[in-house]
Amino acid sequence: MNRNEFRNEPFTDFSLPANADAMRQALRLAAGQLGRTYPLVIDGEPVYTGRVAASIDPGSLSRTIGLVAQADVATAGKAMAAAKRAFDTWRFVAPDVRAGYLFKAAALMRRRKFEYAAWLVYEVGKNWSEADADVAEAIDFLEFYGREAIRLGAPQPLTPVAGEDNRLTYIPLGVGVVISPWNFPLAIMAGMTAAAIVSGNTVLLKPASTSPVIAAKFAGLMAETGLPAGVLNFVPGAGSEIGDYLVDHPLTRFVSFTGSRDVGLRIHKRLGVTHPGQLWIKRFIAEMGGKDAVVVDSSADPEEAATAIVQSAFGYQGQKCSAGSRAILHRDVYDEVLKRVIAKTEALRVGPPEHNADIGPVIDSKAYHKILDYIEIGKGEGRLVAGGAKAEGDGYYIAPTVFADVTEDSRIMHEEIFGPVLAVCKAESFEHAVDIFNNTEYGLTGAVFSNDRGHLEYARDRMHCGNLYFNRKCTGALVGVHPFGGFHMSGTDSKAGGRDYLLLFTQAKVVSERW
Ligand code: NAD
Ligand code: ALA
Repeated sequence: MNRNEFRNEPFTDFSLPANADAMRQALRLAAGQLGRTYPLVIDGEPVYTGRVAASIDPGSLSRTIGLVAQADVATAGKAMAAAKRAFDTWRFVAPDVRAGYLFKAAALMRRRKFEYAAWLVYEVGKNWSEADADVAEAIDFLEFYGREAIRLGAPQPLTPVAGEDNRLTYIPLGVGVVISPWNFPLAIMAGMTAAAIVSGNTVLLKPASTSPVIAAKFAGLMAETGLPAGVLNFVPGAGSEIGDYLVDHPLTRFVSFTGSRDVGLRIHKRLGVTHPGQLWIKRFIAEMGGKDAVVVDSSADPEEAATAIVQSAFGYQGQKCSAGSRAILHRDVYDEVLKRVIAKTEALRVGPPEHNADIGPVIDSKAYHKILDYIEIGKGEGRLVAGGAKAEGDGYYIAPTVFADVTEDSRIMHEEIFGPVLAVCKAESFEHAVDIFNNTEYGLTGAVFSNDRGHLEYARDRMHCGNLYFNRKCTGALVGVHPFGGFHMSGTDSKAGGRDYLLLFTQAKVVSERW
């Protein structure tokens, strides 16, 4: 078992011909396996429900990635019962043994890195680097949480008292429901699931409806590690159909959710209702939306700031909770930074992710129309300086779009668009820029470009977000390095990839023995 110090999985350098060739080969292999049917997994057994949902490539609409069996309330109930049975034994398995399954899964995934990346390219429209980063983050979560479980399984420090043996152990909670998003469909889904099971809980995993195939592959990978039946039950299905059932179930001990503000708030409300037979206050671990921003001070390097603004706004088509969908520029550098942002945005290539274009499609028809609607709203709220329309292609392609001279009370400065749309706002002073930054109901990520130490310290104290970055982009948190989670309507600040995260999946028990 690998228990050495945690290190982040390196990203793949696709400028090296060998890596680019390996990626092309993986894409060809995955292309040959498209359209297969994937079952639910309940108690270690494949379950076909007679109903499937198609997962469609958002960048090539005639391409079906896979057909995924759909759970209904009856099958979800069976999965719940299986998870409850498995909990009775899994909770007593030693933490280092539980961690072993994660380390094995990480090793298998590392061997198949290009293969997993290829499926992400097809299923959710990530370009090669974004897909590779998603796989690397999934490996990181497995390696990091495995080590964390071992650390928390060791004797915990308590104040000694003569004549007493006192021990604190972190014991698991019970059956958990993991509800994951499509935008980091491997990393976040695997991270939430791995954290729950390595802490001794058993899980019902409900992936997002637009990314079930990559989740099915992860469920298959965990089975390959020899994970006991019933510990991880895979129950894809529409949130509208089985979501409430899973959340309301009296055996549900906790829900680990990553997704939108509205769905998160709905789940939070339902979890507050105690159902007959329910013995506990359900726990909620929630990571939700963002309206993140890059602030540029008058002392900043305009080129570096503009590069980071464009990367933060348009990486994975702006479909990251961490995306910098606002840029707040000090008036002294406004014109200079804006000019560079426009040039860099116009240089981005829009096209199919399998050809590794800078900008691929957005996830589905609903998102596509919502984003185009916001672009129309933006035309009434700011000056369109780049993009502003759909782009060519057999998929949901939208040109990266920049609105300048947007006022801080505009809708596009407040509402999460979750697409390639950037609002640029002018600040009268650095303090004013910080006020604009904080003028949001979210509080996930932010970045500041400044060479003024006093301003950076001012920002450190006053910019209210879970992840604040100085002189770098506001996306790309690394496991173990930048524990990730946000304030306000961005969630419960769970700090995924941090050393407090597993505690959310446990309860502390103290046994005190006199002798
Ligand atoms: P979403 O809220 O639409 O869906 C998230 C999950 O909830 C999916 O699995 C979906 O099927 C499920 N769901 C939908 N309705 C449900 C219901 N009634 N009951 C139970 N489950 C239900 O979000 P999404 O579109 O998948 O993801 C994008 C959102 O996630 C954005 O708002 C983004 O900012 C946020 N996000 C946040 C973080 C973070 O760490 N803070 C990370 C990634 C994504
Ligand atoms: N962890 C992802 C990022 O930081 C969401 O961009």
